[in-house]
Amino acid sequence: EADSRESLYLVSDFAKEYFHNILLKTEEGKAIGLSYFKERGFTDDTIKKFELGYSPDSWDAFTTHAIKKGYKLEFLEKTGLSIVKEDTSTGSPTKMFDRFKGRVMFPIRSMSGRTLGFGGRILTSDKKAAKYLNSPESDIYHKSKVLYGIFHAKQSISKEDNCYLVEGYTDVIQFHQTGIHNVVSSSGTALTPEQIRLINRLTKNITVLFDGDAAGLRASLRGIDLILEQGMNVKICSFPEGEDPDSFSRKNSLEELTHYLQENSKDFITFKASLLAADAKNDPIKKSETIHDMVASIAKIPDAIKREVYLKECSHIMDISEQVLFNSIAQLLRKER
Ligand code: CTP
Ligand code: MN
Ligand code: MN
Ligand code: MN
Ligand code: MN
Repeated sequence: EADSRESLYLVSDFAKEYFHNILLKTEEGKAIGLSYFKERGFTDDTIKKFELGYSPDSWDAFTTHAIKKGYKLEFLEKTGLSIVKEDTSTGSPTKMFDRFKGRVMFPIRSMSGRTLGFGGRILTSDKKAAKYLNSPESDIYHKSKVLYGIFHAKQSISKEDNCYLVEGYTDVIQFHQTGIHNVVSSSGTALTPEQIRLINRLTKNITVLFDGDAAGLRASLRGIDLILEQGMNVKICSFPEGEDPDSFSRKNSLEELTHYLQENSKDFITFKASLLAADAKNDPIKKSETIHDMVASIAKIPDAIKREVYLKECSHIMDISEQVLFNSIAQLLRKER
């Protein structure tokens, strides 16, 4: 089992090098993949740092090359890099396909730097195909347990004692290029307790940066309680409508970006309260729903003193007596036990 895992690491590492070389050294890679990344504003240094790549637009170029180099089909299939199908037309052995055909490649690395899997972005605007395709679950890749960018961010997360959490690959990369390194992404999966635990080893502070759209807002609200449950502090920072951390940081200098993050990062309680102010001003039902929602979040905080501090804050912001909030939290805590 350990031997087989090692084989999966080796073939993933080989694939990472292959895609990176195709991007930088072949005509197709340069014309299609590299020019795409350049158009997104990525520099050569950035492309090398994140070892970005390109998978040729051919049915089996990668798989054939890997087999020729001595990698076993079994491991190519287990990592999901290759897809094996019975050839029903001829009844002859099997056909092999490259999963990531014609996509630009983002290698996903572990805390210690091992290649675990890939995200591949499509370049056409084909509405039927998924924009991003990710490696399937394997013995080395568990999407609920990885954070894109953690290898390059870990030192800075400890040093800054804060971690920015963004939605996508390109958000992480563009932040690095702008000069902010303590940033990771959950990359398309809803944030999980395991992902938060990875961050928890490095800092107690998370700032969630979400895309300026409805989906981004929903995702960030879901994440809050999971972070609080682990006794961590959570701030939220939104971006202007239509912007995400990638597009925003491309348009701004490091000074402007830093300033924006400072000004707009709100403690979760202030954030939830301002949401309420925005959409439930004169609506008592909505107001009470939001208060319940805030109380539920506060109840997740393991530390009793911190809970008390937030309860006071909530009472103040929402203009509700502390006693009522206290009772409501006590009731929730009783239910959970
Ligand atoms: N995602 C995914 N599959 C999709 C769409 C998105 O896995 N079909 C994941 C990717 O990890 C993506 C993240 O969700 O990076 C955020 O999605 P989105 O904001 O739509 O993409 P961006 O990262 O902004 O990608 P881009 O700027 O390249 O369009
Ligand atoms: Mn496993
Ligand atoms: Mn989005
Ligand atoms: Mn986005
Ligand atoms: Mn984007």
